[in-house]
Order: sequence, then C-alpha cells, then structure tokens
Amino acid sequence: MAKILGAVALGLGFILLNLTGFSYGALQVGFYRRKCGRSDVEAIVRRVVAAHFVKDRTITPALLRMQFHDCFVRGCDASILLDGSNSEKTSGTNSNVRGFQLIDIIKAALEKACPGVVSCADIIVLATRDAVNMAGGERYIVPTGRRDGFISLSDNVDIPPPEISVTDAIAFFAQKGLNTLDMVHLFGAHTVGVTHCSFILDRLFDLQGQRGGKPDPTMDPRLSAVLKRRCPLKASVDSPVNLDQNLRSANIVDNSFYKEILIKRGILQIDQELALDRRTRPIVVGLANGTTFPAQFGSAMIKMGSIGVLTGRQGEIRKSCRAVNPHSHRVKSTHRTTTIN
Ligand code: HEM
Repeated sequence: MAKILGAVALGLGFILLNLTGFSYGALQVGFYRRKCGRSDVEAIVRRVVAAHFVKDRTITPALLRMQFHDCFVRGCDASILLDGSNSEKTSGTNSNVRGFQLIDIIKAALEKACPGVVSCADIIVLATRDAVNMAGGERYIVPTGRRDGFISLSDNVDIPPPEISVTDAIAFFAQKGLNTLDMVHLFGAHTVGVTHCSFILDRLFDLQGQRGGKPDPTMDPRLSAVLKRRCPLKASVDSPVNLDQNLRSANIVDNSFYKEILIKRGILQIDQELALDRRTRPIVVGLANGTTFPAQFGSAMIKMGSIGVLTGRQGEIRKSCRAVNPHSHRVKSTHRTTTIN
C-alpha cells in the first residue's frame, strides 16, 4: 500500500512539474506555454532561425556572441539591442556584434502571433539555443520569462580584450556568478565563428616589442607563419580568421576548440592561455578527450542566460527590440533611457 501511495505521489509530482515547468529563480521552463493563443512561441523562434541558418551558418557565432555581450552587460535584458547615439551597440567592443536583423524578424513574427507577449531578452536566448543546435550542439532546455531593460549605455560595456589573463578572466566571470568550470565551458563558443586579424597582430608580430619581433611562442610556429600571411601588418582590410582552426569543424559546435588549443593552435591569446594555466588546463583536457562538452556547454549557456534577469516592473515587453516602449514609465522618469533615433 505504502509503495502504491509512494508511486502515486511520485507520478503526481512528475505531472505537476510538467504542468508548471521547472523554475530557475525568476525564470521558468515553458513560460510562454498557452500565452500566445494557439501559437507555440518556441516553435516560431525555431522556424525563423532555421530559415536563416540554411542561408547563413554564421548566425550561430553571431547569436552566441550577442548573448554573451547582452548578458554580461546589465544582465540578459536585451540592452544590446537598443538603438541610440550612445547605446551599447555603439561601443567599439560591440562593433562586430551581428544578428540584429534576425532578432527583428523573429520579433515581428512573434508580434504578429501575439503582440506584447514575448520579450526581446528571451528571443536572444531562444534563438541562440536553436542556432547552437542547428550547428551540431545540444538543444538545451531554456527557461524563459525575462523582461526587457530600459537602459543601454556604451559606457557600461566592459567586455575585456582577448589579452586578458586567466586570473582576470576568472574574476570577471565570478562577478557574474560563474565559476571557472562555467567559464571554460563557455569559451567553447569559440569553436565557431571568427576573430578579425587586428585582435591577433600582437601575437604574430610582437607589436609591444617584448619578444624581439618574434611571434608568440605559445602558438604553433607553423600556424603563426600561415596567419602572418593572412594578417599582414599593413593590410587595408581587417580579415577574418576562424577561431577553431580545424577546418572541418570550424562551423560546428563541438569540442574541437579544446583539441586545437591543446596543440598550440589557439587563436586569441586568452584561448591559448586556457590550455596552459594550471587551473583551466585539466578542464580543457577533460573536454577535449571526453564526450561531455555538449551537455556542459548547454548548462553553462543556461547559467549565463540567467545573469541579472529582470522581472515584473523592473522591465517591460518591448514592441520593437530596438527601442523602449513609447509610454514606458521609465522614459518619463529618466533621461538616461535610450530611445530610437
Ligand atoms: C573574457 C571572455 C572573452 C573574450 C575576451 C572574448 C573575445 C573575443 C574576441 C576578441 C572575438 C573576435 C571578435 C571579432 O573580431 O569580431 C570573439 C569572438 C567570438 N566570441 Fe568571444 N570572448 C570571450 C568570451 C566569449 C563567450 C563567453 C562567448 C559565448 C558564450 C563568446 C562567443 C564568441 C563567438 C561565437 C565569437 C565569434 C563571433 C563571430 O564570428 O561573429 N566569447 N571573442
């Protein structure tokens, strides 16, 4: 009898969890279920992302970087999407962040299905999840319910440069509640996408004059020789270089980034340092040789997606992802708020 009661209780608990969704702080899995008439919000996002992915696979790195730059500055509040003469977008660090038009298209599709329901902050994390999945990564389960912020200022953008030390990177991630493991997992995003030559010229040509003009010895000399030709010192264009130097997997979300940095083929200085520092190297070795990367990357993305989330009146559901709503109470009460130009 006790066993039967236990089983019934377990079953009920399971049903309840499925009905209510798991919650992650303020966020909830399935937050939009039954909130958009007969439409399925997550399916709409996926459909638009899929239609773009077949035309342009680089939307995966574009969205991953967008989510990182959104969540690390004022939290995951879509502040990176706001237009304005002094908004986050205008900061030099964000000059190559891409994907804004895709977010607009997703937002338009959702506004058509159910106006004023889905936040731009949620669109970023849902679209990123789908793009990661389409590029070979795991389809991790994304809790939703974020609201959009009112403020976006270029001065708030404090994403560090690629010369950051491992010590400072650990501290930077810790400020946001992410530990060293999370950090190394998140750097796995550099398994797709590109850097521009300007970020690696010092490694190739010793611009600081600290190595007698020689390339960074932590880079495989064969790779630095190739990259010196790709990224000449006095080039007129800032060419792109794959962050994952394994050509066959440069557009695939897999663990190849870790394998490459273990053989001195990291592109950014911080990427290479992860394979050298005693605190991060064991994690890199585990990821390079194991099968856990897809799940761990997904968990780390979920964790990054919950940084500084806004709820209730702290935020709003924007009508356009590029501007705070015209009648938002914040627009009247603060001139720091960015509005569309
Ligand atoms: C301290 C941490 C980090 C630093 C210093 C850093 C630095 C950089 C730099 C310099 C680039 C090249 C940008 C360009 O030339 O356009 C880049 C690209 C990229 N980063 Fe990071 N990154 C960091 C963490 C992350 C994290 C946590 C993610 C995502 C989870 C991420 C995702 C990406 C992606 C996907 C690209 C390629 C973008 C594209 O192809 O458009 N990065 N990163």
